[in-house]
Amino acid sequence: MTASPVATTLAGLPLRTPVLLAAGTAGTLTEMADALDLSRVGAVVTKSITRLPRDGNATWRILPVDAGMLNAIGLANVGLDAFMRDYAPRASGVPTTVIGSISGFSIEDFVEVAAGMDAVESIPAVEINVSCPNVKHNTEFGSDPPLLAELVREVRRVLTRTRLFVKLSPIANGPLKLADVARAAIEPGASQPTGPNQRPGCDALCVANTMPAMAIDVETRLPRLANVTGGLSGPAIHPIAVKLVHDVYRAVARDTRTPIVGIGGVLKWHHAAEFILAGANAVQVGTGLFADPSCPISIAKGLESWVRRQGVANVGELVGRLQLST
Ligand SMILES: Cc1cc2nc3c(=O)[nH]c(=O)nc-3n(C[C@H](O)[C@H](O)[C@H](O)COP(=O)(O)O)c2cc1C
Repeated sequence: MTASPVATTLAGLPLRTPVLLAAGTAGTLTEMADALDLSRVGAVVTKSITRLPRDGNATWRILPVDAGMLNAIGLANVGLDAFMRDYAPRASGVPTTVIGSISGFSIEDFVEVAAGMDAVESIPAVEINVSCPNVKHNTEFGSDPPLLAELVREVRRVLTRTRLFVKLSPIANGPLKLADVARAAIEPGASQPTGPNQRPGCDALCVANTMPAMAIDVETRLPRLANVTGGLSGPAIHPIAVKLVHDVYRAVARDTRTPIVGIGGVLKWHHAAEFILAGANAVQVGTGLFADPSCPISIAKGLESWVRRQGVANVGELVGRLQLST
């Protein structure tokens, strides 16, 4: 049997396709299984799990807007104990790779959830969400390089075998700033390389999350989200995210050989292909699942035809292969 042109690896983790389900858009673990054959996606990223359960923000907290959606869910989730009791034991039965998403409001929060997930053998990677715009005291980690470096060091310390991905915020404004934050995640200044890839810092960067945004009902003059502001996702943010991947790849990821996961507005295969050319090894799909729950499968199929048309054997050969005349 010939190898699939879209089979790939992310920080040494074998993935059936480079198309992953984004945190918080596919339920806590397997809720998408009714609408999508999970064995045909690269990985499922869990809902972000916090130390304590959270109800999240008041409704309305999801809105369709032109070219995307706004959400202010506020990290509603079952909390670590319920995750470990009710979901973790089922992770080994999920027919694809499971990546555990973690969020928190202090270093201790992240460390405790990371230690819990590290004990689950069928979760080979965790993604720390330092970029949720809908809660207080979370994006600070994604916009303060020394603080992020400390967080990465502390989380690394409790991970015995699990890969560490860091999901960056698009509001670490401008290419230099985001590259600085990315560098802090990759090179946190720990003395000992650790983890499955023997790196001191994270194993992959996830670029990026929703863009802080808001919508107003012009008749009532009220904000349309109860939280007033939310995070914009979907097609509207895709070109912004492509540029962020391009910037981070060229400024810091390429030379340190740190894989990137491109996130933002992937609805069709060519959106995924753009991310790959800009420097991403894999992509995540969030808002696309709301429009067409099976789109990760058509995206992977479209990528497969594209890889063949490009005359290469595997999608990995196209990572970062944007042609620049300069
Ligand atoms: C309803 C909703 C809930 C989300 N919850 C989370 C979450 O818990 N953790 C997280 O890291 N990102 C969360 N996100 C952000 C997505 O994972 C993704 O980064 C973002 O939506 C951009 O990708 P997209 O344009 O493909 O949707 C959420 C997004 C939406 C729309």
